[in-house]
Amino acid sequence: MDIKDMFRKEINKKSVFKNKDLISPHFVPDTLPFRENQIQDIITNLAPALQGIMPTNLFIYGKTGTGKTSTINKVLEKMIEIQKESNIQQRILTVYINCRTYNSKYKVLLKISDNLFPKSYFGYSASFIYDCIVKELVKKKVFVLVVLDEIDLIKDANDAIYSLVRINDEIKEGAITIIGVSNNVLFKDQLDTRTKSGLCKKELVFPPYNAQELREILLQRVNIGFQDDCVGDGALALASAYAAQESGDARTALLLLESAGEIADKKQTYKITEEEITEAKKNVEEELIVDMISTLPDQIKIVLFSVATMVKSNRFSTHLLDDGYVIYSGDAYVEYVKQIKQLSKQPVTMKWFKEYLEELTTYGLLITTTSGKGVRGSTTLIKMAIDTNTVLKVLETSL
Ligand SMILES: Nc1ncnc2c1ncn2[C@@H]1O[C@H](COP(=O)(O)OP(=O)(O)OP(=O)(O)O)[C@@H](O)[C@H]1O
Ligand SMILES: [Mg+2]
Repeated sequence: MDIKDMFRKEINKKSVFKNKDLISPHFVPDTLPFRENQIQDIITNLAPALQGIMPTNLFIYGKTGTGKTSTINKVLEKMIEIQKESNIQQRILTVYINCRTYNSKYKVLLKISDNLFPKSYFGYSASFIYDCIVKELVKKKVFVLVVLDEIDLIKDANDAIYSLVRINDEIKEGAITIIGVSNNVLFKDQLDTRTKSGLCKKELVFPPYNAQELREILLQRVNIGFQDDCVGDGALALASAYAAQESGDARTALLLLESAGEIADKKQTYKITEEEITEAKKNVEEELIVDMISTLPDQIKIVLFSVATMVKSNRFSTHLLDDGYVIYSGDAYVEYVKQIKQLSKQPVTMKWFKEYLEELTTYGLLITTTSGKGVRGSTTLIKMAIDTNTVLKVLETSL
């Protein structure tokens, strides 16, 4: 066939999607249902900035896919629009920082200065950049609202946050407000007391969505992103129920819908029913696991890798009658130390190792229970919560 014809055919191909971009989890709609209270709380906190009063720092916590990133960005976008429209005197600058990429104090300071100055201070020392920022805030009397998204991924978080908190003590005009965002339950309590009290002046929780709420969020997207009558009611209910059961995560729900749409196109049935959603669930689960594992910090990856390696080679601590095996935390720790030395890194203490096990449990990658207190403290019993081969495959490439 003529290549141009092939193009034409591709463009005119029948599809359930009207606009696939609007189904993707990267798209943020203008209204965010079920986040009215959180939006109100953020506005209450930030609005004083428009009147020349420094807003307090804010810490936002909520599980993955609960709309934290979308909500804060939408609110800040509107705030800047208001500022432009109403000719407000106070200068406000918003800086969004994803700490997955900007994962150190240095990178965070640099990113802020890049937004304040036309030239980049890359290569200068952290303290020099810090001083430049402070001077500029005072000179321009500007309020900088810094979003530190996934703040738990900053390696030297204590240092980074504290130095930003401290800026306001040094200056009378201009100010810096931090909006920290995290889905990590453990993060806040790992901070020094003074850093914690500086950052968490106000706290805001984004609860998981229930099935009913997810259904409505999906419906909003179905109306704009799909052709009429492609998505069945049963399919919508099932996708919402799955996502609610998993974690109340809107991203998972959207991914299910998107993947089900692709399946319906491929099968050329152009209908999304419960069947397509069930098939999509398999794809999405694997995708999410791969995503989650590959973004874990290295230390935690190695912990997971050690457990998976033991399971793979049948080195269990005890065989259970009903259901396979368990591994004791002590045995897993020995394996972990062995693995980490091979990678020429320093092992963490047993106490931290157990924290990491707990974190892997909250991510749904491990199942753990604590045995009663023995002579040498308590033992954690560990099992894999997901397919061992998938885990090893992902980790072998990313470690
Ligand atoms: N209330 C909502 N209405 C419509 N879409 C939503 C809503 N909440 C979340 N979403 C959609 O779900 C996806 C994930 O949301 P978002 O990235 O804001 O979650 P998050 O809380 O930041 O998650 P993570 O902790 O993983 O970063 C986005 O595509 C967003 O558009
Ligand atoms: Mg986010």
